[in-house]
Amino acid sequence: MDLFSKFKKKKAVEDTDEGEYLLDENTPFNVREAFNTLRTNVVFGMAPSGGKSLLITSANQSEGKSTTSVNLGVVLAQNGAKVLLIDADMRKPKLHKFFNVDYTKGLSRFLIGQGTLNDSLYRTPIKGLDLMTAGIIPPNPSELLGSNRMKVFIEKAQEYYDYVIIDTPPINVVTDATVLSESVSAVLVVVHYGSTTRDDFQKAKNQLKISGANVIGFAIIGVRSEHKGYYKKYYKSYSSYGYGHRPEETADQTEKAKPADD
Ligand SMILES: Nc1ncnc2c1ncn2[C@@H]1O[C@H](COP(=O)(O)OP(=O)(O)OP(=O)(O)O)[C@@H](O)[C@H]1O
Ligand SMILES: [Mg+2]
Repeated sequence: MDLFSKFKKKKAVEDTDEGEYLLDENTPFNVREAFNTLRTNVVFGMAPSGGKSLLITSANQSEGKSTTSVNLGVVLAQNGAKVLLIDADMRKPKLHKFFNVDYTKGLSRFLIGQGTLNDSLYRTPIKGLDLMTAGIIPPNPSELLGSNRMKVFIEKAQEYYDYVIIDTPPINVVTDATVLSESVSAVLVVVHYGSTTRDDFQKAKNQLKISGANVIGFAIIGVRSEHKGYYKKYYKSYSSYGYGHRPEETADQTEKAKPADD
C-alpha cells in the first residue's frame, strides 16, 4: 500500500529529502483504515505475551520506520490507549519533526543522567500520545540503548502506558535495534515493497532471531511506480554518506555519553 502518494507528490516538489506525514482528519479514508488494520494486528499480536513495548525497525534506511511508528502511536491513542513514543534513532532523530519540537533534550541525555523525564517527555496535541525525543546525538548509541538504565526505563514506562512504541535505526546497518530488541516485548519489521530485497529481509530476520526477539509481524510499505524516480534519487543521496550523522558532529560528546548509574 502506498499510503501517502497523494501528499508526497506535492511535498516532493518542495522538499526532496524527507516527509513527515501525520494522520489527521484530512487523511484519506483508505490510509486511516490501513493504520487501523495495523493497530488491530499489533494489539492482537502483542496480547499473548502480555507485554506493552513494541520496537519498530526495518532492514535498511528510509523504509518507513518512523512514519509507521508515529502513526501507529496516533491510531492507538485515538482508540483510547495511553501511548509513549520513544525516538531511539539517536543517529537520525525524526519523531520530533512530526510535532515540531526540539529533540536535544531527550533519551540520550536521560540515559547519561543529564536530564529528567520531565525535560524529555512531550505531551503531543493528540490526546493520550506522549513523545520522548532522541536527545543530543551521542557517539555510542548502541551502548546507551543496551544499558540497564534503558531497560529499566522501558519497564517503568510500561507501568504507566498501555503501549510503548520505539522507533529505531535499520537493523542491517547498525546494531542499535538488535541490542534494544532484548529489552522489549515485541518487534514489528517494516518492509518496503520493491526496495527491501529478499536478502536484506533474510539478513534482518536472522539478526533478530539470533537476539531472541519476539517478532510479531511485518508492515509492508509500497511505492507506486510513478514515484520511482523520486525514490531512486532519495536512496542515492543516502548511500553517498551512509547512515546517520557524521562523526565530527558527535566527537566532543564522547565523555558525556556513558550510561548513568541506576
Ligand atoms: N506508507 C508509506 N507510503 C509512502 N511513503 C511512505 C510511507 N511511509 C513512509 N513513507 C515515506 O518514506 C520516506 C522515509 O520514511 P521514514 O522517515 O518514516 O523512514 P525510516 O525508515 O524511518 O527512515 P530512516 O532509516 O532514515 O530512519 C519519507 O519520505 C516518508 O514520507
Ligand atoms: Mg526513521
